[in-house]
Amino acid sequence: MTLRLARRMSLLQPYLFADLDRKKQVAIARGMDVISLSIGDPDLPTPGPVVEAGQAAMADSKNHRYPAYAGSKAFRRTAADWLERRFSVHLDPDRELVALIGSKEGIFHLALVLVGEGDVVLCPEPGYPVYAVSTRMAGAEVHEMPLVAERDFLPDLDAVPAGVLARARAIWINYPNNPTGAFADRAFYSKAVAFAQEHELTLCVDAAYSEITFDGLRALSVFEIPGAREVAVEFHSLSKSYNMTGWRVGFAVGRPDVIEPLADFKSNLDSGVFGAVQAAGIRAMEIWPGPSEQVCETYRRRRDRLVAGLARAGYDVTAPRGTFFVWMPVPGGDDKRFAGRLIDEVGVVVTPGSGFGPSGAGYVRFALTVDEERLDEAVERIVRAGV
Ligand code: MLT
Repeated sequence: MTLRLARRMSLLQPYLFADLDRKKQVAIARGMDVISLSIGDPDLPTPGPVVEAGQAAMADSKNHRYPAYAGSKAFRRTAADWLERRFSVHLDPDRELVALIGSKEGIFHLALVLVGEGDVVLCPEPGYPVYAVSTRMAGAEVHEMPLVAERDFLPDLDAVPAGVLARARAIWINYPNNPTGAFADRAFYSKAVAFAQEHELTLCVDAAYSEITFDGLRALSVFEIPGAREVAVEFHSLSKSYNMTGWRVGFAVGRPDVIEPLADFKSNLDSGVFGAVQAAGIRAMEIWPGPSEQVCETYRRRRDRLVAGLARAGYDVTAPRGTFFVWMPVPGGDDKRFAGRLIDEVGVVVTPGSGFGPSGAGYVRFALTVDEERLDEAVERIVRAGV
């Protein structure tokens, strides 16, 4: 019998980073010493106190049972306290906050809660692929908002056509921005809130990189903007600030008429974040800002090293203002060829910008997830490949 998959599966392509991982494994199998600068997966370990909290909680048999669906009271209260200390915003941990099995999970499921056939979601491109994939899997349409260097990689909200806005239900923004490393100031957040209010959109904010900024910049929470509480949902992740990508823990916070249905939806399909992982997450937020300051300083040094090396080699590269990604236009403009040659010829894995959307064509993204010596080695190999 030939198996027929659900029609929606035709909307899926291999996940960008799963595909790159396959190419990386091929290079390793060929005996290459691979330098992987593709996925944003920190090489630094999770801070010791966080690991210890997770270990202790793992031994506690109360965590061997189902966790609370929306996250333990302690987790939600600690997350709300962290938001208060970090951004001076006050949100209700019971009505306005839900724990997530990593923010990717919540970002995907939000689409299934908010939109369906006939609806439109405004998505930045280049952008984190999950905004668009989840929209399409929910049966809705994506309207792409190009992020281009001439506009400092901020979307031109005034350029969204009226016909699209009439059907639009939600808009995604993400700063510090993956993949471009761009930063958004208060004026942009204010404009986004006003835009969402005017067009009755849910303003979906991906704040995964809020703790990784450079040169004295401080990323905002959208809730610092008056009126945001009524329109916005913000996604926070512990993955990048605390080197916890493998643990899978984050949270969504914001308008209760979105958070509550999201929590209801999730209770039908998952059983919450493992209690020991929540305990580790609590510890991470309690000890903030300690480790995240060190993490930031490490990425700043790596950023400066890579950018200086690439500039010396003649590449036109600008230092990112946040995230741990360097976004660089490639000579000749063929990002897939550039990235392909780097893997095949010198074992350096970078992400071709077109994987993040059409406006990413002509760029590659470097993740600063190896030490400075390996970054120097990567630059030497890139020069050797002569791409
Ligand atoms: C990235 O590298 O852009 C993301 O961290 C990948 C992911 O979350 O899957």
